[in-house]
Amino acid sequence: MELHNSHQQELIAEDQQGSVLSLDRDKEFNVNRKFYIESYGCQMNFSDSEIVAAILNQEGFGSTRNIEEADMIFINTCSIREKAEESVRKRLKDFRPLKKHKPELTIGVLGCMAERLKSKFLEEEQLVDIVAGPDAYRDLPNLLKKAEDGDKGINVFLSREETYADISPMRLDENGVTAFISIMRGCDNMCSFCVVPFTRGRERSRSSYTIVSEATDLFMRGYREVTLLGQNVDSYKWLNPETNEITNFAQLLEMVAKVNPLLRVRFSTSHPKDITDEVLNTMAQNPNICKYIHLPVQSGSSRILELMNRTYDREWYKNRIQAIRQIIPDCVVSSDIITGFCTETTADHQETLNMMEWANYSMSYMFYYSERPGTPAAKKLKDDVPLEIKKARLNEIIRLQNQISHRHNQSEIGKTFEVLIEGNSKRSTDMFKGRNSQNKMIVFQKKAHYKAGDYVMVKIESASSATLMGSIVN
Ligand code: 5AD
Ligand code: SF4
Repeated sequence: MELHNSHQQELIAEDQQGSVLSLDRDKEFNVNRKFYIESYGCQMNFSDSEIVAAILNQEGFGSTRNIEEADMIFINTCSIREKAEESVRKRLKDFRPLKKHKPELTIGVLGCMAERLKSKFLEEEQLVDIVAGPDAYRDLPNLLKKAEDGDKGINVFLSREETYADISPMRLDENGVTAFISIMRGCDNMCSFCVVPFTRGRERSRSSYTIVSEATDLFMRGYREVTLLGQNVDSYKWLNPETNEITNFAQLLEMVAKVNPLLRVRFSTSHPKDITDEVLNTMAQNPNICKYIHLPVQSGSSRILELMNRTYDREWYKNRIQAIRQIIPDCVVSSDIITGFCTETTADHQETLNMMEWANYSMSYMFYYSERPGTPAAKKLKDDVPLEIKKARLNEIIRLQNQISHRHNQSEIGKTFEVLIEGNSKRSTDMFKGRNSQNKMIVFQKKAHYKAGDYVMVKIESASSATLMGSIVN
């Protein structure tokens, strides 16, 4: 599982009460009640919160960006590392005074931590009223009713079919230009370090037609970029029950790319064992499929990769990178790296550093290993690399990645890229920010007539390790 959104971010729903047309009595009552959602963890979790918001909105509930006026607070949680769980627990403590002040306030825990801890959550955290796992969101209205009647509501049933295919997500925290589309759920990979197969269940793919229609709808509403999300997008496989035909990921990519040449298509995350030349060729043939692949290596050592049950080795990974370079010469690759996995030696660590250099990642998400209860590694291997060493290795990895990213970005100076404008830059309203196809963030001075959602040509003039700066050229 390799999806990210490392920073806690409030997900805020636009108030869409006005779009609720026919309300039954319950729903009319619900309109006066507001929910607030906060999300942690990966992009999939943020995308799930948009499904939750849509389900609650269908029930007539309004949404709010102000936690103080909420009647329901939902926290969509992550279990990937111990630290992720700690920050959720800390955040729950902040809700105590709110609940004290407003006893009828309902607090719901959603997502991976809900799934991992199940009813234990209700025992450990008295203030929680609802616990719902990633496949139980359709049951939220029912769980809310239970909570209102004074019962705690829990549903952590994992499904083999649920893809929320028919639900049109309520776009949260939106810039109106870029959106996520979830194309599959769950994961069958069983990487030994990973909790995701236990929290998100078995892999299942969503119907390609509903994906294409969601992309089309977004395009009509002015969006210009979609990111297809899945724990392992390359194993996307949907069997059309009417025709018995199978759509694979390469075919799906092509279908979405054909929605409109002005709609950029991205995807995350790829698995080195599954990314095929067919996918790479589809990327090369469609200019609007972005030339960027997040291809987590996890470790550069074949011995560690075997213990991680990644099912590829160093040579296989290098071969995939070579295929990318050959088929899509302008493609940029990024990675996830775990350091200090069970039994990792200095020599293994060196192989990771060496791989980072060789692969020339534009950026990486870097972590030290955090043992997760119930995973194959926790059951079979000893977490024997001391914390001090894990931290020292992680520092070394981060330092190297910064150097590589810096070098990467310096080499872009003087080049001109097509950039999709996403909105104002964080630092100044005189500046726009946007990305090129290779997913590099570019900041540049505004020019008359240009607005978010437009494509512009930008020439790069300077660079740091995180951002490129440039100017619009004709
Ligand atoms: N400890 C540290 N990092 C982990 N990841 C997944 N599980 C763990 C763990 N137990 C990292 C992997 C994955 C990313 C989303 O999080 O690098 O790709
Ligand atoms: Fe996403 Fe759940 Fe994995 Fe966290 S544990 S990264 S929320 S799938």
